[in-house]
Amino acid sequence: MKATARAHTNIALIKYWGKRDRSLILPMNNSLSLTLDGFYTETTVEFHDYLTADVFYLNNDCITGKAYQRVTSFLDRVREKAGRTDVYAEVHSVNHVPTAAGLASSASGFSALAAAASKAIGMQLNNQELSVLTRQGSGSACRSVYGGFVEWEKGLKEDGSDSHAIPIVPANHWDIRVAAAVMSSDAKKILSREGMERTVNTSSFYPSWVESIPADLITIKKGIMHKDFEKVGSIAEANCLRMHATTLAAHPPFTYWQSTTFLIMEAVRDLRSSGVPAYFTIDAGPNVKVLYLPEDEETVQHKLRSIAGVRDVIVSKPGQGISYV
Ligand code: DP6
Repeated sequence: MKATARAHTNIALIKYWGKRDRSLILPMNNSLSLTLDGFYTETTVEFHDYLTADVFYLNNDCITGKAYQRVTSFLDRVREKAGRTDVYAEVHSVNHVPTAAGLASSASGFSALAAAASKAIGMQLNNQELSVLTRQGSGSACRSVYGGFVEWEKGLKEDGSDSHAIPIVPANHWDIRVAAAVMSSDAKKILSREGMERTVNTSSFYPSWVESIPADLITIKKGIMHKDFEKVGSIAEANCLRMHATTLAAHPPFTYWQSTTFLIMEAVRDLRSSGVPAYFTIDAGPNVKVLYLPEDEETVQHKLRSIAGVRDVIVSKPGQGISYV
């Protein structure tokens, strides 16, 4: 009863922002992401008859507290689904995601955990079923089941059985780059979970965010199919700005941005006015990810590294979905 899985993280180009069901993690809107090759989590799960509780090691440290609770509650769902509420697991996870890069390790983490745990307990889930299960650990993680460009369909059913990711095009469809600009200062964090809840409940801008999604999706999917970089980049950037605008109208208002965030956004606009197609996107934190084409690698790297407050730049290409080791 042992399995090891590897999952990559993903960056949303059309953001998931807001839940309609907290316990099942059902989103208000569809979202769309690119799985990244540079960052992944590898997780081994082994179920033992003799254990009386789960144990969780992350990067060789034994984890307790909230992070442990999230893992063990997720394993409860796996046990229940498998009809094996009598067994507990030893979980070893290694994150190859530099936390400083501000890329969600929860996406690769829950995706690898769901894959390894469901296999170890003896379930043979197809990717769609695996995505439904993964979603219940962390929403954005359900997209990491697949490689390349991926859409998460919010679904309509109350039980969440139709809320899962679907692959749009595989990683080898289009060679583009995503640079994560790593910042020197660590911000005080409002977790994405809290941030989206406050926004849904209090932001007067939230309804227009939800209304804006279908048109963005149609345009960006056309752009992806035709490899129209400017279309994809500009929709992603505008979608990100609209998501962050909702936080400014929340009560109490908040923002994830810091001064370095603005400097990077400015630098990306500068690149564009000098003829280099580059676009930014930002998740629930201050870090900025920049999309560009391989031929502009040197110019983009040079520009980002020259910004005061940027400590490192980590580049990814489109990555693969779940694999078993
Ligand atoms: C801004 O998936 O981390 O990165 O479902 O509560 O675990 P939970 O939230 P999470 O939220 C990610 C939000 C986002 C946008 C996105 O990845 O689509």
